[in-house]
Amino acid sequence: MRKLMTVAALGGLVAASALAGCGDGGGGSGDSLTLGFSQVGAESGWRTANTKSIQESAKQAGIDLKFSDAQGKQENQIKAIRSFITQRVDVIAFSPVVESGWETVLKEAKDADIPVILTDRAIDSPDKSLYKTFIGSDFVLEGKKAGEWLVKEYEGQDDPVNIAELQGTPGAAPANDRKAGFADVIKAEPKFKVIASQTGDFTRTGGKQVMETFLKAHPDIDVLYAHNDDMGLGAIEAIEAAGKKPGTDIKIITVDAVHDGMQALADGKINYIVECSPLLGPQLMDLAKKVNAGEEVPQRVLTEETTFTQDQAQEALPDRKY
Ligand code: AHR
Repeated sequence: MRKLMTVAALGGLVAASALAGCGDGGGGSGDSLTLGFSQVGAESGWRTANTKSIQESAKQAGIDLKFSDAQGKQENQIKAIRSFITQRVDVIAFSPVVESGWETVLKEAKDADIPVILTDRAIDSPDKSLYKTFIGSDFVLEGKKAGEWLVKEYEGQDDPVNIAELQGTPGAAPANDRKAGFADVIKAEPKFKVIASQTGDFTRTGGKQVMETFLKAHPDIDVLYAHNDDMGLGAIEAIEAAGKKPGTDIKIITVDAVHDGMQALADGKINYIVECSPLLGPQLMDLAKKVNAGEEVPQRVLTEETTFTQDQAQEALPDRKY
């Protein structure tokens, strides 16, 4: 008898919470917020730190996070977004692998009345109504900062400066923008020549392999500009294996400032790092709560970041969180 009563009471609870679920119009129940997040993958130290920041911040904010790893493939992200729509999550956020090809799926989210937040990377659609806000860095500015350091470093020298460039994932916003920003600054001085430029896909293995081919084809590289730390770190292995001294025989500029990159900078193997912060989690959760509540949010939320010389890296390393 007692058993029967317990089952009946439980049945009542289930029915009550199902009703509460209907009321909030989303995948969560009552006041809780369900956020569907589609991550690029795990290609770099930056990405690992970014994933950690998002997962920890969701927990702290009491947000139910449905996390999906796209393993570097746009089709996986599109599938994940469609699945979030089917599950009726409250908010969708994602970091687009590439810039183009998002209109159809984002239109589906819009038609389902689920707000979208672009995180870390932008899309190239002119239709700004497809997302509520975009939180992340100014990648063009990062490329410019890298170029400005180079211009200063070679000030007063007229000899040609041969540059090799390791690009990020083809079609990704940080690859396109970091390339453009850098080119825009160095074009003012014809002595700077980009003699080799190829993708290393933002990975350490990619950076190493491409640098090996660069070194064989161009024994006269003066500078390496890598679109992220990981490719720079892979390239350092290739440079050392070729019997050259990274940071001295070949000057190296990278972007990100993750722990391993900062260590290489402090050790003199990298010469300059432009920071790109992966710690987007707390602001993302805040924005998700606001858009879910129907509050106005700015169309663009810019991340604050700095740059590091070798001395500054030595100072910053002990307190570096990632
Ligand atoms: O979109 C941010 C970039 O993606 C980081 O700079 C790079 O390391 C990552 O893979």
